[in-house]
Amino acid sequence: MALADCRRERECKKGIMRIVLGIESSCDETAVALVREDGTVLAQALATQQAEHAPFGGVVPEIAARAHLAQIDRLYMQAMREAGLTLDQIDAIAATTGPGLIGGVIVGVMLGKALAAAAGKTFLSINHLEGHALTVRLTHQVQFPYFLLLISGGHCQQLVVRGVGDYVRLGGTKDDALGEAFDKCAKMLGLPYPGGPALERAARGGNASAYAFPRPLKGTEGCDFSFSGLKTAVRLTIEKEVARAGKLTPEIIADVAASFEAAVLDVLADRVGRALTVAQKEYPITALAVAGGVAANQAIGAGLRTLAQAHALPLVVAPPALCTDNAVMIAWAGMERLRAGVADDLSVAPRARWPLTELTPVI
Ligand code: KG4
Ligand code: ZN
Repeated sequence: MALADCRRERECKKGIMRIVLGIESSCDETAVALVREDGTVLAQALATQQAEHAPFGGVVPEIAARAHLAQIDRLYMQAMREAGLTLDQIDAIAATTGPGLIGGVIVGVMLGKALAAAAGKTFLSINHLEGHALTVRLTHQVQFPYFLLLISGGHCQQLVVRGVGDYVRLGGTKDDALGEAFDKCAKMLGLPYPGGPALERAARGGNASAYAFPRPLKGTEGCDFSFSGLKTAVRLTIEKEVARAGKLTPEIIADVAASFEAAVLDVLADRVGRALTVAQKEYPITALAVAGGVAANQAIGAGLRTLAQAHALPLVVAPPALCTDNAVMIAWAGMERLRAGVADDLSVAPRARWPLTELTPVI
């Protein structure tokens, strides 16, 4: 064991290093994790509801809430067993309080509050988006201020992360989130749910210049996105091709997927490039960080790497399992807050809507 590791183990045994339990239940993943102050993930247990929602081609809120309720106690016990810890050895309990599907959020918040009340532990109310935003500090020790592109199924934003609870929003989507656009286009192409990874796989065999899809907002003022026009163009192309060929052939599917991805790459290069320029004028940005499920897309990752290089910044992307929804990020956001002396009241209410810019900076 390296010297630093030995010291960390000793400090942990002496109780110097704190441990936070994280709970996530805002969308279609139920997750519990235990994270130590030095960033060590002591345990994580996660159940995805993808199979339950697949027949409907998207997340059904009522099904999600019931599935969270059915899984969460088991996952809590599994995580505690895996870490070999008892509740009295934990310093704080962090739960996603929003934004998200309210039925699911309530399930996680109730467990978090109950554990905190029963064991007399600090309760931390975590904004799910802050969980995504701070993950790169756990995985890559990124320093503030950094630029964050948050691209998931429900969110699509460009931000400057100035500190814990301190976010400047430079732009966001005017309509669909990027992951949502991937999911909807995949569904139109008859690809399985969740559509993002399936569309990426289909695109690998296709011709990216087969169809000239629009590049919404490219070259315009501001740092916003819009994906609904692109989605409509994909739908019209599919209808035309089906009328011509009689059905959706594997070749058409691959070409549409590749052309869609090419349009997305072009839009991202323009919009993110613009926002980076704005951010770098105002702040000593340390990195271009990407978070959210869409960050798992390899072609997007390659495009953003080129962009980061052009802005003389490192590109920082968490591993795929920490890009999609998980409880490690919630525990870590809790750790950042605990370190800063934050403790939330048990009366805090779950929220369906909770923009990052409504948080209060933690000093
Ligand atoms: O962060 P996440 O797990 O959940 C939300 O908070 O939304 O993101 C899920 C989204 C889905 O829309 C999914 O299709 C998309 O991320 N996604 C991808 C890829 N993997 C996941 N989109 C494009 N390419 C991928 N490889
Ligand atoms: Zn998320």
